[in-house]
Amino acid sequence: MEERKLIPIYVLGKKYMVPEGSTIITALEYAGFKLKKGVGCREGFCGACASLYRLPGDYRLHGGLGCQTVVVENMHIVQIPYTPAPKAVYDIEELEPDVSVFNRYYPELFRCVSCNTCTKICPQELNVMDYVNAMMRGDFETAAELSFDCLMCGLCSARCPAEISQFLCAILARRLYGKYLSKKGEFILQRIKEIEEGKYEEEFRRLMSLPLEELKKIYYERDLNLEIT
Ligand code: SF4
Ligand code: SF4
Ligand code: FES
Repeated sequence: MEERKLIPIYVLGKKYMVPEGSTIITALEYAGFKLKKGVGCREGFCGACASLYRLPGDYRLHGGLGCQTVVVENMHIVQIPYTPAPKAVYDIEELEPDVSVFNRYYPELFRCVSCNTCTKICPQELNVMDYVNAMMRGDFETAAELSFDCLMCGLCSARCPAEISQFLCAILARRLYGKYLSKKGEFILQRIKEIEEGKYEEEFRRLMSLPLEELKKIYYERDLNLEIT
């Protein structure tokens, strides 16, 4: 097997030699860190692996997903396995899609100073400031659409000078939009009915009996352009 060149990186200020081309997560593991927090799917979907880093000769503090960001020589890394953010508890059945819900549950939203720091750091390249502004206007549809691909990594919140929990506000906006404002998808109701009637039971059982490797193969080869019928 071809040996990969080792390059220096710094984790919490300490130097480690790791294989070139590694992601931050695989580099940390190569360096001996046993990650119990700050990692999940390893595929760029779960948002658990938020990382902050600086690059040589660059004064800026960058953010990214540890499982997607490839290390570079002399990179300085800090993991952010969790962004402390106060999560409001509410019963969606009792709420209305009105801007007053943010006044009640996330009043800090209205402290936004439009600095755009959140947009710049978002690893999903979401226009975070725009969805924050949409929520402040009570425009649930725009907020839901602009925040739809949020992974809840928390980087926007960690960097926000107004200490807003953008991702938690956005999930409230999407819930309210989905429940009260969006057009109902008839095909979803139909599919739920089919599931309840047991139409897919046999297929579920077949999938559950397959070895992991075969399941993975089916998953990665699935047709993402399936027409919903
Ligand atoms: S980082 Fe905070 S204050 Fe700045 S634009 Fe985003 S939400 Fe507003
Ligand atoms: S909006 Fe915030 S929490 Fe969501 S993916 Fe972007 S940086 Fe992460
Ligand atoms: S581990 Fe899930 S997004 Fe990185």
